[in-house]
Amino acid sequence: MPDQPPSLRSARWYAPDTLRAFGHRSRARQAGLGAPDYAGKPVIGILNTWTDLNSCHLHFKVTVEAIKRGVLQAGGVPMEIPVMSAGETLTKPTSMLYRNFLAMEAEEMIRANPIDGAVLLGGCDKSTPALLMGAISAGVPSVYVPSGPMMKGHWRGETLGSGSDVWKYWDERRAGRLAEQAWEEIEGGIARSPGHCMTMGTAATMTALAETMGFCIPGASSVPAMDSNHARLAAEAGRQVVANVLSSEAMPTQIATRAAFENAVAVLMAAGGSTNAIVHLIAMAGRAGVDLGLADFDAISRRTPLLADLRPAGRFLMEDFYFAGGLRALLSQMGDDLLQLDLPTVNGRTLRENIAGAEVHLPEVIRPRAEPVAPDGGLAVLGGNLAPRGAVIKHSAASPELLRHTGPAVVFESYPDLAARIDDPDLPATPDSVLVLKGGGPLGAPGMPEWGMLPIPKKLLEAGVRDMVRVSDARMSGTSYGTCVLHVAPESAAGGSLAAVRDGDPITLDVAARRIELGVPEGEIARRLAESPPAPGRRYARGYTRLYLDHVTQADRGCDFDFLEGTAPTPEPAIF
Ligand code: FES
Repeated sequence: MPDQPPSLRSARWYAPDTLRAFGHRSRARQAGLGAPDYAGKPVIGILNTWTDLNSCHLHFKVTVEAIKRGVLQAGGVPMEIPVMSAGETLTKPTSMLYRNFLAMEAEEMIRANPIDGAVLLGGCDKSTPALLMGAISAGVPSVYVPSGPMMKGHWRGETLGSGSDVWKYWDERRAGRLAEQAWEEIEGGIARSPGHCMTMGTAATMTALAETMGFCIPGASSVPAMDSNHARLAAEAGRQVVANVLSSEAMPTQIATRAAFENAVAVLMAAGGSTNAIVHLIAMAGRAGVDLGLADFDAISRRTPLLADLRPAGRFLMEDFYFAGGLRALLSQMGDDLLQLDLPTVNGRTLRENIAGAEVHLPEVIRPRAEPVAPDGGLAVLGGNLAPRGAVIKHSAASPELLRHTGPAVVFESYPDLAARIDDPDLPATPDSVLVLKGGGPLGAPGMPEWGMLPIPKKLLEAGVRDMVRVSDARMSGTSYGTCVLHVAPESAAGGSLAAVRDGDPITLDVAARRIELGVPEGEIARRLAESPPAPGRRYARGYTRLYLDHVTQADRGCDFDFLEGTAPTPEPAIF
């Protein structure tokens, strides 16, 4: 019988003198592993989101070998576990529909197997929150290895940013100002290597927040995917998780504290990060039993200056951020008054110790505190009768002249309705109109897709209009920009007042006052909702989507499943 310390979770599988344990050991031999390979050693599950379907993660076949090397060096047993990827570009109707699926898969694969600790390998938008949600619920020591951003895009001497420049040049193409040849050249120049989007979109935001919270080897989130330091830090993650298992330290719930989430929100603001992080952080906090709400985001945004000048809100890309000193430099600029630095992280040191000595090398990319890009964090949480449970706007990426605006609604009842009419020359839209999209929320779409940056009507594009106030219950890509009010809760399909909006209704956006108001009396809103109840969205009789529709929460609660929130312990699997 191998000598497996009973304190190791994996010992329940391998050590006993039972029929089942015999089976586990004989199958270890089938894999070419004898007792010297695993006896007494922590088994480390490496949850790998590699797939041919996710071009952001194509380098993970190499990265995972570095992690395995680190695990072996530290005396652990690496076990690679392929999990779904939910890649942002190909997964339909939206990868957000599958974030909770990946979170469940991560949690269940850890729990169901002889795993003592985990390395989580992700980066493309939903993979970061999903893997961390799963790891928090599974409750074994875990280290997150971020994919790192892809190389900068390039076209005819111009730098291209993921997403942001797609939207920009697509509008030029729709306006008839970009030739097919140029459009094809952009297609070949905007995604030049594996790695996640290299603007401060959702992926770069979430990996930075994972590191801020303490789930990564320091510096890992800023290293480009194709930089040799990526593999070096991946190996370090492998060594670290073995050490954490042996010392029983850095459990996910010891890392994911209320203070760590507050730090993550502060960095979201200082980095000009994605609105999607609001939904993801609330969901992650829910898994850890931490009460994090929309009000926390607004309060922290008001007191946190925007320091990183990164697209889509600013000028530079993630590679510039790395050369400027990366996240560690940004954290050091923020300092004690904006962050709580004496928090634990997965490498056994505090956040303060991990950023010691970090310097800003390019002050135009990471600004000094005395010269911020903007005095506040650039995300605002709105209330008002159109969003009683909240809505959000990234006002740092909006047009300043539209931040206080009243205009008549032009309503689209669904995304197909929008697609069918947005370029209709007879659409009753002027530059002052407020474009309203219903049916884009967690239930209505379903999955809360990134439909919130509604396209500008073609006739207005041709007239030179590039931004309008837009309101929806959808999300928008972290690489998007414009005056877009997002995440309206309750969503229209759940009976929110958004469902009552009709063409011509006045809508007022007042970001300074944190309001989005429908200029219709409350009684009339109630009458309209009673008279024509909102369309419930597509129905699914079976499959994962049925589960999703039965249990997903609204945006203000993070769109997790109601039965996955909280820290109620799940029993360890019986081994009979
Ligand atoms: Fe993968 Fe943007 S598409 S991070």
